[in-house]
Amino acid sequence: METLLYVKLADQIIAHISEGVYKVGTRLPSVRALSKSHQVSIATVSSAYAILEDRGWAEARPKSGYFVKRSTIEPIDLPKTTRAKPKPRPVTSTELAMQVQSDAVRKEGISFSSAIPDLEFAISAEVRRTFTRLSRLPASFGNGYNASEGLFELRKQIARRAIDAGIHIAPDAIITTLGAQNSISHALRSMTKPGDIVAVESPCYFGLLQMIEAYGLKAIEIPADPADGMSIEALTLALQKWPVKVVLSIAAFSNPLGCVIPADNKRKILQLLAQHDLCLIEDDIYGELQFEGRRPKSFKAFDTDGRVIWCSSVSKTIDPHLRVGWIAPGKYYQAVLQQSFISSIAPPTLPQVVTADIMAKGLLDRHLRHARASYHQRYLRLMELAREHFPKEMRASSAKGGLVAWFEMPRSIDATALYHRCREEGIFIAPGELFSISGLYQHCFRMNFSSPWTPQREQAMATIGQYLKEMLLEHG
Ligand SMILES: Cc1ncc(COP(=O)(O)O)c(C=O)c1O
Repeated sequence: METLLYVKLADQIIAHISEGVYKVGTRLPSVRALSKSHQVSIATVSSAYAILEDRGWAEARPKSGYFVKRSTIEPIDLPKTTRAKPKPRPVTSTELAMQVQSDAVRKEGISFSSAIPDLEFAISAEVRRTFTRLSRLPASFGNGYNASEGLFELRKQIARRAIDAGIHIAPDAIITTLGAQNSISHALRSMTKPGDIVAVESPCYFGLLQMIEAYGLKAIEIPADPADGMSIEALTLALQKWPVKVVLSIAAFSNPLGCVIPADNKRKILQLLAQHDLCLIEDDIYGELQFEGRRPKSFKAFDTDGRVIWCSSVSKTIDPHLRVGWIAPGKYYQAVLQQSFISSIAPPTLPQVVTADIMAKGLLDRHLRHARASYHQRYLRLMELAREHFPKEMRASSAKGGLVAWFEMPRSIDATALYHRCREEGIFIAPGELFSISGLYQHCFRMNFSSPWTPQREQAMATIGQYLKEMLLEHG
């Protein structure tokens, strides 16, 4: 019976996907090819594909056909949460951090090391076209020195988008910046003086650790659970014991763990901070890059007394070259505005005009719908390849969004040695050493999954896996 035929065909394709015949992210046979090979009508194949789409196994891409969506990999164990007792320490940035940062701008080689979005999406061409168009208008360059709070039209767009994060804020409560790093710098400079202690999640993005060092601050590492982020228990104890000045959190799709702090935990953390009258700097740069469902609510959404300093940018959603970010400093507005003035007087106007235009036209929303699905597929493929090539003892983060994943190996693996070995072959990863101030992650590394999978990238995964296995054999 024809009605049963398409269900049968759908089940057959699903079985092939489960057996790994069709891999995540790869194109399924065209409707015409399947109709020919199975000797069924085009309508039967189309209905079978509709079932696959419905059940989340395949996605239709305009003019390209159907692609495998769901990963059939078994779940991978999560990394262990560190048990180390938090203690404030000065950060000592290493040459390694500088080297990894310079790796990020190399054109040759296969890079998994930097958290850069895919710049081949259509929005990048749109940014270039918008720059060309708007640079012809004198108004796009502003009027001499502009206001330190930044372009109103952009702040209006940011306030509109903030609603999705559960934040109801007026454009006048926002200051535009030169990127999220710049926003966090304003926040830290406003809230701390040298010698103060900043609580960070552990593992922590090394760009933030380096900033803490540069400002003469000390960091205290609060263990992060790979599923729920910052441990409330550890934070509670740290705040009782140490005179922490501010708490810094990448709550949504942490760099490097990719996890999200659940809404309830956010409320509890803010209650705790209210008891100690502390502020929280929220780095929400990945907040809009959820793989599925709705964007998680930001800490700022639960902020009842203005103690959350919300920082973000378009570096991960559009392009880091734009250098457009923002900060909503809550009750610390005046201090932050002054910092913005001191550091750069005002951000340049043209990139802000371009960003506001892209947002106002709905192009960012359209882009994100596509980018989120692509990143999700690329992440699943990364995990599939890791399972295929990396040692079976590995653990990996279960990212819910963002651009990076975290791998934990047996303790005998030195990920810094792995980094150097890969680098010689033109393969770049970010060694775990950089993500801690107390040597907690020497056996871990971070990988970016934003680039499309090519045979070269897939081969690089096999090479990394081979090195890991050799290291395990050598060191037990
Ligand atoms: C967590 C986090 N915060 C901030 C930044 C820097 O952001 P921006 O380019 O907007 O300055 C990065 C870049 O990788 C990041 O991963």
